[in-house]
Amino acid sequence: MSTLLVKNIGVLATAEGSEPLRSAAQHDGIKRRENAAIVINGDTIQGVYENDSAPICDEVIDAEGRLVTAGLVDAHTHLIFGGWRQHEVPLKLRGAGYLEILQAGGGILNTLKATRAASEDELYDRAEKVLSEMLAHGITTVEAKSGYGLDIDNELKQLRVIKRLKEEGGFDVVPTFMAAHAVPPEFAGDPDGYIEFICTQILPKVADDELCEFVDVFCETGVFDVEQSRKMLQFAQIYGFKTKIHADEIDAIGGSVLAGEMGATSAEHLIAINKEGIDSMARGGTIACLLPGTSLYLGKDFAPARSMIEAGVPVAICTDFNPGSCPSCNLQFCMNLGYLKYRMTPEEVLSAVTINAACAVGMGKSIGTVEAGKQADIVIWDAPDIDYLVYRFGSNLASKVIRKGKIVE
Ligand code: NIG
Ligand code: FE
Repeated sequence: MSTLLVKNIGVLATAEGSEPLRSAAQHDGIKRRENAAIVINGDTIQGVYENDSAPICDEVIDAEGRLVTAGLVDAHTHLIFGGWRQHEVPLKLRGAGYLEILQAGGGILNTLKATRAASEDELYDRAEKVLSEMLAHGITTVEAKSGYGLDIDNELKQLRVIKRLKEEGGFDVVPTFMAAHAVPPEFAGDPDGYIEFICTQILPKVADDELCEFVDVFCETGVFDVEQSRKMLQFAQIYGFKTKIHADEIDAIGGSVLAGEMGATSAEHLIAINKEGIDSMARGGTIACLLPGTSLYLGKDFAPARSMIEAGVPVAICTDFNPGSCPSCNLQFCMNLGYLKYRMTPEEVLSAVTINAACAVGMGKSIGTVEAGKQADIVIWDAPDIDYLVYRFGSNLASKVIRKGKIVE
């Protein structure tokens, strides 16, 4: 196995271990080590050394005194879709609400048409481009949801694309089945019937073909209520899948409370979360996947990240990349927003996009920190420290990205 040395690291900033960081540990758990060097053996980190005492390796990268962190993890994207929705922006700017656009057949239902019309290869090529862009920005693992097919063939088509991105494309993509993203035209006015259809007709096929690791549901006014969401996630658990919930994005109808009660791995958005929801998530150990790019793009409030951290909810920050509410896959920009709008410290932001996000995709044991035995996903930044990383915005500060021990060209 060939070895790679990353030497002359100015600051190595990383958490330790495989569990999500919560409360004060979300800040204190990030340790800074100066003048370090990392040795990589094949696709695995062999060890972290003092710069002067690192062993000789086959290949050497000089970090030239820069900041080094673990590869970033984007734990929430709607990566697989056809078309774009730029024509909705003027409607939004004239005051039409997100749910209003959806109920008028726009929004998710608009992307549904374009996704159904797209071939598997078209969807693959589009997603591959996005993943390559993300990788160049230091994002080495990406969660990807279905949810724009909303029938058997097209949901399976989306999930097969994700599987191919992993197997053929070599990307680290974590698949989430989200047929419960909206009620399709075939079930208009009958969300109960559609949930029943997903649970009895689509989910068993997804399970047979081993096409997902997580199941997600959009629990929101006018989409799926708490009981429908509970049923969706109960079925998911029966099939052995881990769960996620889009909760309290617009109204706090009980999605975050349900997330904690069901022991969901994560709950997403949480802009409108209340104390009951926060307490339930803290009790259930549910990670908050916060999506500041979406708050910005929808002109909404920013989720109360500080209250969640204080209550012991581990916080992750993700893009929510999708053609409607966040047409950007730039997690670095979301880190800036986490710093400025959530008022999280640079250390809290870093844990939010590394170890906590890794745990939100069920991969805390293998990625999310720079430690011996973990997968060698590492970013050398054009930055001296993490305060600079969250301060500069709009430029790609990833200088060199190493994924599974290989330098990304
Ligand atoms: O997480 N909130 C629901 N789903 C997506 C939006 C998807 C879309 O608008 O296409 C989200 O923001
Ligand atoms: Fe989303």
